[in-house]
Amino acid sequence: MPLNVTVEVDDEKYPLADHGKPASLLDIALANHIHLEHNCGGSCACTTCHIVVKEGEENLSEMQSDEEDRSNSTRRRPSPSHSRLGCQAIVRGNVVVEIPK
Ligand code: FES
Repeated sequence: MPLNVTVEVDDEKYPLADHGKPASLLDIALANHIHLEHNCGGSCACTTCHIVVKEGEENLSEMQSDEEDRSNSTRRRPSPSHSRLGCQAIVRGNVVVEIPK
């Protein structure tokens, strides 16, 4: 969202792109030509890859301390309780996310 694009991935093909953790939202987005800012290249240093989880939060990896620290240090978080860094959140099932403007 808001692109209304659905992507299916094959678990055996990770990493798909060369940025973020393998199988992360950023990895999947870039491999599918979906624009997601990633100024630090996916190393949990910039917070430009923030996304908002709309559905399937339980299908994402748990937030690690470095992601939590980085997320708490920014005002860019569009929806703090459902916001994740796309480069750190690893997808393990169906999720619906919004890429904020
Ligand atoms: Fe920089 Fe995710 S791309 S923190």
